[in-house]
Amino acid sequence: MTTKIIGTGSAVPEQVVTNDDLSKVVETSDEWIRTRTGIRERRIATEGSGTSHMAAEAARKALENAGISAEELDIIILATSSADCCFPSGACEVQAAIGASHAVAFDLSAACSGFVYALNTAHSFFKAGIYKTGLVIGADTLSKLIDWNDRGTCVLFGDGAGAAVVRAEETGSFHMTMGADGTRGSALACPGRTTGNFLTEKGPELGYMTMDGQEVFKFAVKTVPESINKVLAESETDIEEIKYFILHQANYRIFESIAKRLKIPMEKLPTNLERFGNTSGATIPILLDEMNREGKLQQGDKLILAGFGAGLTWGATLLEW
Ligand code: ACO
Repeated sequence: MTTKIIGTGSAVPEQVVTNDDLSKVVETSDEWIRTRTGIRERRIATEGSGTSHMAAEAARKALENAGISAEELDIIILATSSADCCFPSGACEVQAAIGASHAVAFDLSAACSGFVYALNTAHSFFKAGIYKTGLVIGADTLSKLIDWNDRGTCVLFGDGAGAAVVRAEETGSFHMTMGADGTRGSALACPGRTTGNFLTEKGPELGYMTMDGQEVFKFAVKTVPESINKVLAESETDIEEIKYFILHQANYRIFESIAKRLKIPMEKLPTNLERFGNTSGATIPILLDEMNREGKLQQGDKLILAGFGAGLTWGATLLEW
């Protein structure tokens, strides 16, 4: 038993915010942002185009691309750390919006590793024989969790959603690894939605995202090659057999360092970071959808998807297109 992606979709807000636009908000420059990260612009959600809205749009496109109806879905997993509400979950909102009346639906929180965690979770349900057809979504609206006065973080992120329809199949390969280290959680944190209660006499507070950039950088360049090597070893696959490594789009300099460590050419690490920035749980499925629609993925191609993010969390999936 294996798992295949049979359709993809994505959705980003219309509003484009360039590096020059940001230089009017904080003391920064296009040159600094481009050379340190590779980002030129990002999309920022407006009122009414939050996480569930984008996730549902990406989901509709993925279903259309797969050629199946929402009624056929057994399970919807939405990977997000910025759901619009505490409850109902974003996945339930998507389920209602697309009419997936037979699907169980829940959110999964693993920040920028979320899509890989969600894909691996869907596969585990398939492997256990519980479900056969699923929708895995990564969607985030980090713009509402960012401190727009903090130039160290606000230049890095954008909003967006990507989705994949997945199905249990008899042939093909699917290998996965995941990990977490909560002891290093403070490197990238967002206490957000902290509300005091009547006992502490504190009113509601919003805690914005904080990040130790260099810690995250070191974590990414060490952990991503390790998890890629792990799925390669477990699946007895030679690294040369992998057509593309579709990594969480955080930072171009992280990619350069990973490519060097794995001794792979940069052409094997596709990127769309310059147009969307870091959309957290959405980066991998948005890129996957772009590549799918551009005809870059052929049946039988071996891909590795790899995520890393807050938690700290990480994960990789080797799959056959
Ligand atoms: N514009 C101009 N100057 C800036 C900006 C900015 N946007 N941000 C920081 N600076 C300044 C700092 O104030 C500092 O100035 P100083 O030397 O006068 O004190 C200087 O630039 C260097 O700051 P550092 O934080 O040391 O910059 P660094 O070279 O580490 O680059 C960066 C920062 C790009 C965040 C880097 O650490 C990085 O790439 N880290 C990886 C983190 C990442 O990608 N996070 C994404 C989210 S996490 C995830 O997706 C898993």
